[in-house]
Amino acid sequence: MTNENRQPVMAGNWKMNVNHLEAIAYMNKMAFSLVDADYARTEVVIFPPFTDLRSVQTIVDADHLSITYGAQDISAHEAGAYTGEVSGSMLKKLKAKYALIGHSERRAHHNESDELVNAKVKAAIKSDLIPMIAVGETLDIRQSGNAIEHTLSQVTGALKDVRSNYVDESVIAYEPVWAIGTGEVATPQDAQDMSLAIREKISKLYNQEVADKVRILYGGSVKAGNVKTIMEQPDVDGALVGGAALDPDEFLRIIRWPDQP
Ligand code: PGA
Repeated sequence: MTNENRQPVMAGNWKMNVNHLEAIAYMNKMAFSLVDADYARTEVVIFPPFTDLRSVQTIVDADHLSITYGAQDISAHEAGAYTGEVSGSMLKKLKAKYALIGHSERRAHHNESDELVNAKVKAAIKSDLIPMIAVGETLDIRQSGNAIEHTLSQVTGALKDVRSNYVDESVIAYEPVWAIGTGEVATPQDAQDMSLAIREKISKLYNQEVADKVRILYGGSVKAGNVKTIMEQPDVDGALVGGAALDPDEFLRIIRWPDQP
């Protein structure tokens, strides 16, 4: 079972789906369905597109919901001539709690390096946002036997020169690239092995106390039908969910993972 000192997190990454009107309908459904016992057990996080954040904030504020939310990306810069980018202070103004950083789709389609991921982590911290850092290997790397080494070097790169008091509240999402959107799920043992390796790495980079606090999520084709066995792994503290989070009913079942088969 997940370590009881770390609150489980279920995070829904909408990617480039759901317009702001659809976001309002989705959030109202969540508001209606989630009860105090759900929030007490599991932190619920939504990562909508930038254009939806104001709508999400308005519903969360008006109904005093315990749902938290964040942006799918953040600029490494504070302000200025960076057309198309969104700064940490703009996100903080919308009461975002998290910034998702280094998702494999950004690494692959926007050439985001470990250096840029590190700069974005620092930008998030500067704006008082919690970084949720995505790491994970491609199929080639897994087949060559270097999955752990590769993923740990992404962790080290993302956290370069980041102080321990910011790391212990950060979230690391292990998402093997070959499992994202493919229906291929890592085995619960694979998820556990990598999560433990990440925790041990953080213990070496910082100390055991920090490593014990960091929440490590698994992501990649998580659904209501496979979430429970993943959550039973002692070092897996939650899931980052893409496709299955687009359906609020399915995401609700994932949030209620102990009730699933
Ligand atoms: P998926 O995506 O659940 O659709 O595999 C996960 C993610 O990319 O965060």
